[in-house]
Amino acid sequence: MNPLNRLETLHELTDGFRKANKTIGLVPTMGALHEGHLSLVRQSLEEMDETIVTIFVNPSQFAPGEDLDQYPRTLEQDLEQLAHVGAKHVFVPDSSLIYPPGFSTSIVPPKVAAVLEGEFRPTHFSGVATVVLKLFNMSRADVAFFGQKDYQQVCVIQAMVEDLNVNTQVRVCPIIRESDGLALSSRNRYLDAEQRKTALVLHKTLQHVRDLITSGQNDGFEIVTEMRQMLIDGGVDSIDYAVVADPATLETADFIDGKVVALLAAYVGKTRLIDNLIIG
Ligand code: PAF
Repeated sequence: MNPLNRLETLHELTDGFRKANKTIGLVPTMGALHEGHLSLVRQSLEEMDETIVTIFVNPSQFAPGEDLDQYPRTLEQDLEQLAHVGAKHVFVPDSSLIYPPGFSTSIVPPKVAAVLEGEFRPTHFSGVATVVLKLFNMSRADVAFFGQKDYQQVCVIQAMVEDLNVNTQVRVCPIIRESDGLALSSRNRYLDAEQRKTALVLHKTLQHVRDLITSGQNDGFEIVTEMRQMLIDGGVDSIDYAVVADPATLETADFIDGKVVALLAAYVGKTRLIDNLIIG
């Protein structure tokens, strides 16, 4: 498969789709594809007439000192996997196409970006929102597919779409897990065998939270205390956050009396992992 890397070529393609009244699905990725990404591609191929997958490791969503340089780049394998699931159009822009000389505009992300990830990675969601809006505009997609794994990212993109009247709908697809519960992530490949075992405590902790809530525990503080203890006992090296929150605003739920989302971010060795579970 020959990836597209010029905007003109992408526009020729999408002009053709539009003229033929075809719907366009977009699956934005940073590559290092796994079954989680492929599930989004399959969903788009099923729902939409045409699907465009993008692969771009977006520098503006990494802060200095984060893993931008180390982030896995596996283009050959990515293209093979995409061809295998039947994707035909892959856009792989160069950094200079997304951020040409003189580029100076960026999105101030919505309120929901300020908490959780926003506290630990304050510039992250501005970078995500900016590149996602550019990819929406470049692809002229009708629907874009994102994974629930990046729960807060989805909230940010949904709010941006709503607030700025963006003409692309956001479709959220379920988290894909290994058979032992580990949520698929491109960063899992940083883990050695021992760390991978430790990482299972993230999902186990979320399941424990679900069990506590379904058995009647409604005190958010007590639940979070147990969450943190379970993560520490399970061997994580540090915790950025472990919360039970309102699924729309991500404000911490002190008293649980309806649907909530449990979210956590923790380090196993030097690898930062995130996971979440919607409960109720
Ligand atoms: O979720 C990701 O892989 C990235 O944040 C995204 C949406 C492709 C933007 O760079």
